[in-house]
Amino acid sequence: MTTNIAVLVSGRGSNLQSIIDNIENGFIKNARISVVISDVDDAYALERARNHGITDVFIDPSDFPNKQEYEKEMLEVLKDNEVDLILLAGYMRLIGKDLIAAYRNRIINIHPALLPSFKGLHAQQQAFDYGVKVSGCTVHFVDEQMDTGPIIIQKCIPVLDTDTAEDLAARILEQEHKSYPEAVKLFVEGKLKVEGRVVVHT
Ligand code: GAR
Repeated sequence: MTTNIAVLVSGRGSNLQSIIDNIENGFIKNARISVVISDVDDAYALERARNHGITDVFIDPSDFPNKQEYEKEMLEVLKDNEVDLILLAGYMRLIGKDLIAAYRNRIINIHPALLPSFKGLHAQQQAFDYGVKVSGCTVHFVDEQMDTGPIIIQKCIPVLDTDTAEDLAARILEQEHKSYPEAVKLFVEGKLKVEGRVVVHT
């Protein structure tokens, strides 16, 4: 059986690209990206989708009176594309409760810090400014709060004395591009079991 994936994006889409590449090279089997959805009309991620023959959809949040109505439209698109799994890849909006309820433990996010530290925006800069000696990335299921859901994979890297915040972000991104495909592969193979807030790899 094939897992139909939707990827939600807002920007450059390098994590989207890593998922596309790892499906195309066979690392992730029995999965396809059925749709890429953006809340930003000129997101480069949409172009990446088109380059690989993947359906791309822009949903303009300003066309809707509130998040609930906006996500209702998104749910229609997800239904039309028979989506089983939603990946947030640089999607810069909080997911509302109706969408979470419809896709409980089937929405995954990647965050550029070792959660629960440095939630929210500019996580790499937050970690750099705090002076941590290790940082990294976290792939996790999405729940009702921001960046709090059960953790699937974390990878860490040292923060070097010579690092700028940009150096750190670039090295974290390299780990993101490995972690996200690994997490998706585990999900697609049915190897993730959520027990409370702990994810067990079966
Ligand atoms: C990535 O670093 C991702 O972890 C981060 O946005 C970047 C998107 O890059 N996401 C968040 O900060 C979510 N809170 P990409 O568009 O090249 O994948």
